[in-house]
Amino acid sequence: MKKSLLIAAMLLPLLLTFCKHESTVRKVDLSGPWRFQKGDDLSWAAPAYDDRKWDTLLPTTWWEEQGYKRLDGFGWYRVKFIIPSDLKVNAFRKDSLQFLLGKIDDCDQVFLNGVLIGENGVTIRGNEKPGNDFITVRDKWDLDRRYVLSADDPRILWDQENTLAVRVFDQGGYGGMFSKPFEIAMVDLKDYVKFDFSFSAFTFEGDTAVSRKFTLQNNYGKSDFRGVLEWKVVSYENGNTLYKKDSVIVLDKNGKSQYRMRFLTDPQKPCYAELTFTETTTGHRVTETLEVPYIWTPAPTPQPRINGARVFGVRVWSPFRFKVPATGQPPLKYSAEGLPQGLKIDSLSGQITGMLSKKGEYPVKLKVTNVLGKAEGGLKIVCGDLISLTPPMGWNSWNCWGLSVSDEKVRISAGLIKSMGLIDHGWTYVNIDDGWEDKHDKDGNILTNSKFPDMKALCSYIHSLGLKAGIYSSPGTKTCGGYEGSFTFEEKDAKAYADWGIDYLKYDWCSYGRIAPDPTLDQMKYPYKVMRHALRQVPRDIHYSLCQYGMGNVWEWGAEVDGNSWRTTGDIEDTWESLSAIGFSQNKCSPYAQPGRWNDPDMLVVGWVGWGPALHYTRLTPSEQYTHITLWCLLSAPLLIGCDLSQLDLFTLSLLTNDEVLAIDQDPLGRQATQAKANEKYQIWIKDLEGGGKAIGLFNLTDQPLNVPVDLKELGLTGRLNLRDLWKQKDLGQAENHFEMNVLPHGAVLVTVIR
Ligand code: GAL
Repeated sequence: MKKSLLIAAMLLPLLLTFCKHESTVRKVDLSGPWRFQKGDDLSWAAPAYDDRKWDTLLPTTWWEEQGYKRLDGFGWYRVKFIIPSDLKVNAFRKDSLQFLLGKIDDCDQVFLNGVLIGENGVTIRGNEKPGNDFITVRDKWDLDRRYVLSADDPRILWDQENTLAVRVFDQGGYGGMFSKPFEIAMVDLKDYVKFDFSFSAFTFEGDTAVSRKFTLQNNYGKSDFRGVLEWKVVSYENGNTLYKKDSVIVLDKNGKSQYRMRFLTDPQKPCYAELTFTETTTGHRVTETLEVPYIWTPAPTPQPRINGARVFGVRVWSPFRFKVPATGQPPLKYSAEGLPQGLKIDSLSGQITGMLSKKGEYPVKLKVTNVLGKAEGGLKIVCGDLISLTPPMGWNSWNCWGLSVSDEKVRISAGLIKSMGLIDHGWTYVNIDDGWEDKHDKDGNILTNSKFPDMKALCSYIHSLGLKAGIYSSPGTKTCGGYEGSFTFEEKDAKAYADWGIDYLKYDWCSYGRIAPDPTLDQMKYPYKVMRHALRQVPRDIHYSLCQYGMGNVWEWGAEVDGNSWRTTGDIEDTWESLSAIGFSQNKCSPYAQPGRWNDPDMLVVGWVGWGPALHYTRLTPSEQYTHITLWCLLSAPLLIGCDLSQLDLFTLSLLTNDEVLAIDQDPLGRQATQAKANEKYQIWIKDLEGGGKAIGLFNLTDQPLNVPVDLKELGLTGRLNLRDLWKQKDLGQAENHFEMNVLPHGAVLVTVIR
């Protein structure tokens, strides 16, 4: 935003707003510009301090987004406002006032009228003096800041001008106040009574019944709440209520009760549940809406079908491993015609192994049979300099287990990729992220920690299943999790990886920032070149995955340092905000994707995630998860499942096993989709496919179902075109000039148009 606009907005009186849905709830909106000054001085907390010469800044987004590039350390925000006593009119209980200050990256002390009221998310109740050790707290940057004062707290000046001053310390990277809401309001029923769905997923019982557990928690310490719990299920198609139930309940003070909703539904017909608790005496209510998972992926046919990549890259003298992904009623029998010398196929497991000694292109005809029939398909083996000719597909330990990953968890995951049939759809890599490392010994050999007693045996096990093994390190002295990095040990580490049988390396910048604090482009490339050199010395194909969050527009030079993929963003989270911000900002990288070189918008956040050890079910709605997979496939992104596979539910499995959708990611042409249309309501992305067809993704950004129109002429597509819905695997007939599809809130539709 321009500075003049910011100032104009700041002069507007701070608004006393009325929430749309509950006209009774009043609040002071603090999301407009605040005063800001970098540096640190405790006298800046005083209400009388003259801050008129300070800059103006929005509290809703980071310093770095508002012109303060690379600002780390201290900064102060100040804002003045009236706290009107009519906030209490119609308030649920009139006893507590809350200050909601979005999130603060990384540490904060909050002063109301010169007195400390909160620190790093904890309300300060007495008159404590501000200390300096609050800046050592490391893990609160993503925490919602909510400070609650008793309504009769003398620090609040009712109906008078108040001053909030926020002292922020940023430890590095992005910093400052961000997110939302920024407001002051009386504490409402919804602040005390919370629905929690995170500990369970919807369960399908047979073909039609669906159920989900949830809890209701009463955080109010002073009394029980009596009221009505109502839940109803509403069809998206026609708005009809499909099911409704209510019961009178009592929520014990500081108590938590568990409930279960169960109803009959058709899993192919999308609907949502609306749950409401209405407190009896005040009529105040808390409502949550929960989309019910709908399954579009058809069940695999019993007849054989060959899935997955149709092209595979390998270098000479590197161990070859490719499991032919195929579905169909077992037992399946595999054969391959035209395999080059040095390779063989195992007819029972479908694994092609061996080694090639001559560069060249080898077209192979694959055949898979069972008692019901046969499937044939082509696989082009390209023995040359490039590997990963289609984006890698697999599993990575980070988004579920975080640093609590262990040999056992990795083995279990690998076993499940096979036993749950994911391998039959092309899921191949089993990647250990941060948390496996110990020290380098006196000879410079990297040792594994006690959670990984025998890395070589683990890799052999993974290979025996037809899968591939991946590992993680940093060019710095330490990884992001504080484990040992590869700095100065690159060659030894690469040899160790090859010796263990590693097929994939994620190489994460992390503490390299201490070696090159304000890196030039050359300094950004350098550590990646060093490891690249080391990897090229070992007789093994290792997918080289650069992870440095997109610094220096890595997509422009990732190929130059021989990366096979490179992260284009910071870490993903399982929220719509994170998913949509990352996914829909990838257009800039599009021209750089090609076979062997992939933009990586980070790993998948479907299923049970949590960055370990405690997991929760993804906070994305089912429709948001359709958007996730659809968009990532259009983006030709590496697909790395990040969830606990031992809890894989039917819905998540259906998302990960739609072969027509996955084929868009694995398309041999290797193009990345581009954004063809973007407005506030929807986006359209289009991807060129081998053979001249196009894949088109339609995305609804609103929270209501939306008809998304596609102007084919605008996309350069003329004549009569055959349309196919890939999720449903159904032909939609022909279209000329224009077609339109209904897309669910935050959801997606993926079609191909083929002449
Ligand atoms: C982050 C990286 C994550 C994960 C983590 C491990 O920097 O982006 O994907 O690898 O480090 O500590």
